[in-house]
Amino acid sequence: MTDVPADPKDAARADRVRADGRIDTWRHPGWVRITHWINVIAVVVLLMSGLNILMAHPALYWGVRSTFADPWLQIPTLPGWMMLPQVRDLAQARHWHFLFAWIFVANGLAYLTLGVLLRWLAQRLWPTPSDLRGFGTTVAEHVRLHFPNDERARTYNVLQKLTYLAMILVVLPMMLLTGLSMSPGFNAIGGLLLELLGGRQSARTLHFISAGLIVGFVVVHVGLVIWTGPANNMRSMITGWYAIRSGRAPDQGGPR
Ligand code: HEM
Repeated sequence: MTDVPADPKDAARADRVRADGRIDTWRHPGWVRITHWINVIAVVVLLMSGLNILMAHPALYWGVRSTFADPWLQIPTLPGWMMLPQVRDLAQARHWHFLFAWIFVANGLAYLTLGVLLRWLAQRLWPTPSDLRGFGTTVAEHVRLHFPNDERARTYNVLQKLTYLAMILVVLPMMLLTGLSMSPGFNAIGGLLLELLGGRQSARTLHFISAGLIVGFVVVHVGLVIWTGPANNMRSMITGWYAIRSGRAPDQGGPR
């Protein structure tokens, strides 16, 4: 008997030993990598064009009306480099925003459909009972900024899984629904949604809060990508292959 996998695709994705003794393990299929990078571009354009739109009336309120007096939050004037276009232009900003909103929706639907059909969400992102039992240990590792770089790094840790799921299933859909509710083109569901959300100004504020949560996520996400080994992480999201140490090595704060 040999250990050669029956399916040639499995053989192509089996572990490979690298020259430095680490093991290359298959981590991200092509559709995850493509949808991830399209999502990054879409989110950046949406955030920048959204800030330009916000500058047309840089104040947020709760309820139905914008009274101009007593806003819930007054936004300071933002520098041009944060916005798309870089000068105040509501019409152009809305064109960018709506075009990329649809790219974001189509891409998100493609990710979710493949994620469910190929059982990616269930197998890769859904925490197992053993993950949940290790919650405290993983939190302690994060607090110390120490992350395993050995066999345990073959899968996402429980905090990664929960955070990715929260983004995919809660924050990104919240951004979409609050955005759709304000769209005149979606009057039928928009009207109902607006009522549920407590009025147009509440929807606008919730849309802004979801954008803020996405910015918070991206700062921590990219921070951890850099802290835990930018080259290895980026290589995994570009080629699919991710290097780990064999066996069980001491936890490291540095590149994994
Ligand atoms: C320049 C910005 C970004 C960089 C450099 C980046 C990089 C990465 C990398 C390297 C991974 C793989 C992590 C690993 O294998 O441990 C990853 C996964 C992921 N990223 Fe990002 N990311 C960025 C922006 C975003 C944004 C804007 C979102 C969503 C709003 C996002 C959502 C995700 C999700 C959900 C995963 C897990 C995907 C899956 O396995 O299905 N990322 N990212």
